[in-house]
Amino acid sequence: MRGGLSKTFAVLSAAGLLAVSACGNSGDDSGDTASKNVTVFTWWADGGEKAGLDGLVSVFDTNCKDYKFVNSAVAGGAGSNAKQVLANDLQSGKPPSTFQAHAGAELKDYITAGQVDDVSGLYKDFGLDTAFPKNLIDQITVEGKIYSIPANVHRANVVWTNPKTLQKAGIDAAKAPATVDAWIADLTKLQAAGVKAPLAISKGFAQEMLVEAVLLGELGTDAFNGLWDGKTDWAGANVTAALNKYKTLLTFTNVDRENIDWPDALQYVNKGQAGYTLMGDWVAAQQLSDGVKETDYTYWPSPGTAGTFQFLADSFTLPTNGQNPEGTKCWLKTVGSAEGQKAFNTKKGSIPARSDAVPTDYPKYQQAAMADWKKDKIAPSCAHGSACSAGQNNDILSALSQFSGAQDVAKLQTALGTALKTS
Ligand code: GAL
Repeated sequence: MRGGLSKTFAVLSAAGLLAVSACGNSGDDSGDTASKNVTVFTWWADGGEKAGLDGLVSVFDTNCKDYKFVNSAVAGGAGSNAKQVLANDLQSGKPPSTFQAHAGAELKDYITAGQVDDVSGLYKDFGLDTAFPKNLIDQITVEGKIYSIPANVHRANVVWTNPKTLQKAGIDAAKAPATVDAWIADLTKLQAAGVKAPLAISKGFAQEMLVEAVLLGELGTDAFNGLWDGKTDWAGANVTAALNKYKTLLTFTNVDRENIDWPDALQYVNKGQAGYTLMGDWVAAQQLSDGVKETDYTYWPSPGTAGTFQFLADSFTLPTNGQNPEGTKCWLKTVGSAEGQKAFNTKKGSIPARSDAVPTDYPKYQQAAMADWKKDKIAPSCAHGSACSAGQNNDILSALSQFSGAQDVAKLQTALGTALKTS
């Protein structure tokens, strides 16, 4: 773990509405009950994500008996609805007790806006200064202060397959196509075998993940990482070529891609309507929660990215002027604890951020991810806050949504370059 995290955070240093329950501080509770409440804001409302959250809650309930967990989740993959709700709550001075935030550029947004408190004292109190690798701590430290407690590490660049569907076109699901071109060749075979939309995809951030995966596969890790720290030119011919391949990939996708979220795209794969979907490894958690057998799907790094782990990390904050700071500290203690990380990550598809996890405690997928994390090169993700700021991410999402309709590569390329220069 240590080696992997050193690489990760070197990269990071370089790069820089359906509420399940009340959102924000509704102020509904009063007196004794309210003082016990710890409102936890996430977008982990359903399926495997909720199962992960439930794992944390079970440890919190046992170890923090003086307090009451209040679920303030807002559904929608990658916080597509939650982030706006949170921004409004923070802006209007009604922060939850704690909220999830990605390590990296996204966390810096909250720090710069003065919306999160320094929790470095808690690292000493809870022994986290030795539990987490130093380079991770360095990354979330700004001017000597630490602003969140990491819960996990997820991988973004993963393709999930339905072996039975691939079999229809004689494709071996265990073997990853070596390049994006080889993947396009397989998608073509699948279409010829009658699978109309062989690559299942959903709206917004899922399209961003696919673009990132294609750029990573085509440019290579160093040039890809350079896109986020200004060392790689967004106007380059290599970016144009990659975006054209992304355009080709979209021709193999479902027509309702602007209307569905990632679990729906995964269902297209599981039901055999598609052969593949590209999505982060919260899919492993969803399969587990849906009872899909490990033999009924395969996974591999997106074509051209074998040997690179595109990562993101969820962490929890202590918002400035948040409700019930003492209860929140108990939540943060749970998040950072060995017990909490195990209860969470065994169900969430992610691997623990702590250095002392025992791989055999984890399902097969996470054991493989832990091994890759140790040896792979590391790249950050803009869709999940490790590579770019929230403003840049929003501009990229708008450009991709326009592209989904207009399909103008030159316009997309200019918009991506502009997004990274601004906000
Ligand atoms: C990410 C988050 C993951 C997972 C995913 C899909 O941004 O870090 O934990 O929840 O969104 O919703």
